[in-house]
Amino acid sequence: MIIAIDGPAASGKGTLARRIAAHYALPHLDTGLLYRAVAARCLALGLLDDVAASEAAAARLDVAAIDPEALRSAAMGEAASVVAARPGVRAALLDLQRRFAAQERGAVLDGRDIGTVICPDADVKLFVTAAPQVRAERRFKELAGRGAAVTFADVLADIEKRDERDSLRSAAPLVKADDAALLDTSALGIEAAFDAAMALVTQRLGQRG
Ligand code: CDP
Repeated sequence: MIIAIDGPAASGKGTLARRIAAHYALPHLDTGLLYRAVAARCLALGLLDDVAASEAAAARLDVAAIDPEALRSAAMGEAASVVAARPGVRAALLDLQRRFAAQERGAVLDGRDIGTVICPDADVKLFVTAAPQVRAERRFKELAGRGAAVTFADVLADIEKRDERDSLRSAAPLVKADDAALLDTSALGIEAAFDAAMALVTQRLGQRG
């Protein structure tokens, strides 16, 4: 069983993907980490603007060596969105995502293009969203909680800029797949969002028989 979860920054898709994966005992891939890791490598080399360097970093990415904690900053999210707009970077990361999805028991993947490009035949597709103000509030609390020196206004501006870049790019833009179920978590806490997501998942699985 493949479950594809897409949505914009801080929509709750990562938390939901982890919880749903745990519920079904499926492996989970946070695909945003792949783009963040490519961006980190480019930043370390001072080559974020170099398309060929970012493609090479994507082609050589060692997934086992990714340290999620080192990649959580707002700056890394912004840099990830820059490299993620490059078709060559996306192409270099395609196979490893599809291989992950093709594991025998199935998998849960979350990102921006899982239901549209990576796993168009996924058994269940969710598109998780929330109002920008709500997403910015969540991300602000998360970053501030980790001691980052950020303001709410900065976080909101970052989210709006990334939403725009991710949605308007020509390579695998952030868009709801036609057959994805929409889940707006603006008014939902984690537990309520999980319950709503599980209701959609079981409904979809029931429809597939
Ligand atoms: O956690 P958050 O939603 O803020 O970000 P993320 O999922 O770690 O993704 C960081 C950036 O990577 C996004 O803004 C996208 O530009 C890019 N990304 C993508 O293009 N495709 C994916 N499947 C996942 C992430």
